[in-house]
Amino acid sequence: MDQNKIKVTICTGTTCYILGGSNYLLLNLSIPEALRERVEISGSPCMGFCQEEGGMEKTPCLKIGEELYTGLSLEEAVKKIIEATSSIEKFAPTPKESSL
Ligand code: FES
Repeated sequence: MDQNKIKVTICTGTTCYILGGSNYLLLNLSIPEALRERVEISGSPCMGFCQEEGGMEKTPCLKIGEELYTGLSLEEAVKKIIEATSSIEKFAPTPKESSL
């Protein structure tokens, strides 16, 4: 994985899909175009959270980096992704630093 990309993993399990996760299929188109190359979106089979006690409240779920988010709308997920990409830009080496 590219260190300068935010990895977004969408749960594509049936429970998440039915309970709102199908909207996450629009994530790539909903992220501002300028940020799309900084984000790597992939799917995952059921992440298992829906099977825990109270798990239905944890759907739909997705991970942004290693952080788990549950019950986010598409708009909220996009906002979190934008925040995540701005944090890697904050810590990314400047061209001068990276050439050392
Ligand atoms: S279907 Fe998403 S956690 Fe199970």
